[in-house]
Amino acid sequence: MNTQRLIDTARELVADDKGLLAMDESNPTCNERFAQFGISQTEEARRAYRQWIVTTPGLADSISGAILYDETLRQHKDDGTPFAKALLDVGIIPGIKVDLGAKDLATHAGEKITEGLDGLRGRLAEYGDMGARFAKWRAVIAIGEGFPSRSCLEANAHALARYAALCQEAGLVPIVEPEVLMTGDHPLERCLKVTEETLRNVFIQLNCQRVMLEGMLLKPNMVVPGLTCLEQKTADDVADTTVKCLLRNVPAAVPGVAFLSGGQSGELASERLNAMNVRFRGRLPWALTFSFARAIQQPALEIWRGQEANVSLAQHALSYRAKCNRMARRGEYPAAMQGNSTESASRSDSSSNLVTIK
Ligand code: G3H
Repeated sequence: MNTQRLIDTARELVADDKGLLAMDESNPTCNERFAQFGISQTEEARRAYRQWIVTTPGLADSISGAILYDETLRQHKDDGTPFAKALLDVGIIPGIKVDLGAKDLATHAGEKITEGLDGLRGRLAEYGDMGARFAKWRAVIAIGEGFPSRSCLEANAHALARYAALCQEAGLVPIVEPEVLMTGDHPLERCLKVTEETLRNVFIQLNCQRVMLEGMLLKPNMVVPGLTCLEQKTADDVADTTVKCLLRNVPAAVPGVAFLSGGQSGELASERLNAMNVRFRGRLPWALTFSFARAIQQPALEIWRGQEANVSLAQHALSYRAKCNRMARRGEYPAAMQGNSTESASRSDSSSNLVTIK
């Protein structure tokens, strides 16, 4: 195992106030998002979409790494350049989602276990040869009546740790993503409790499988009230609770925490990340950054709608949200973009109110 290379890559991914772009939607998920806007659900449409994303001017100013899906890693630009090389050429590190999705956990109604460990060693070797330098595996933890169960937390933590160990063996930095879902009407405190239990289990298993903490990144949820909870919280409340949770459960050896957006609007995700960095920057052992999919892509997808004529405007919107998040990492997300912070988590972005960001 090339320990130093893993450490260097992990640090590079969280350096310079940049963050990650998750563009690793599986084909069914990508098709679902395309369907909302009447975009054709074909391999060529997915390639065209990913092509304009990776060629967005200035994307590397805010994005350190991009997570691809298996199909995307095998695709090329019109001129034949593989997407992984196109990213590397502009200074963005290519990564790959390697889990095979969350499936029903047997005998545990409402709970999921992520699959994909069988044959993973071989797939990681192939992905490494194709240029990937890091990987991602997402575990899904739902909150509901009587769950998450201990068995769900342990099974998912075990799978995450087995995946992470295999990644490091193959020279790829593992991004460990245990996502506590926002679905539900539970209060902030319940999300805190469940996220704490989840992270505790994850780090026990990571240690058990001898994963080198300096050569990995954590991709957790922010600690937020359930989507339909009547008592939504301010960005400062979310920031304080999330950081408290991380301080209690994430070892200082981990170089970075890169949040998922989980269905929050782009604005809200930036606002909350900004609040964390305003309040705690310089006082935490790890970098607090972003690894968003929807919170960066959604407004741009809405503009693109599968039309070549809209590409330039869509690229502008994508680059804009990426920049907003880089500002949020610095705790400098423009006040002009921040609205009522207790507003619904599903608030949508408007591409018409872009403010100037340097
Ligand atoms: O696994 C999920 C993605 O990497 C993050 O997606 O930001 O839309 O939650 P999201």
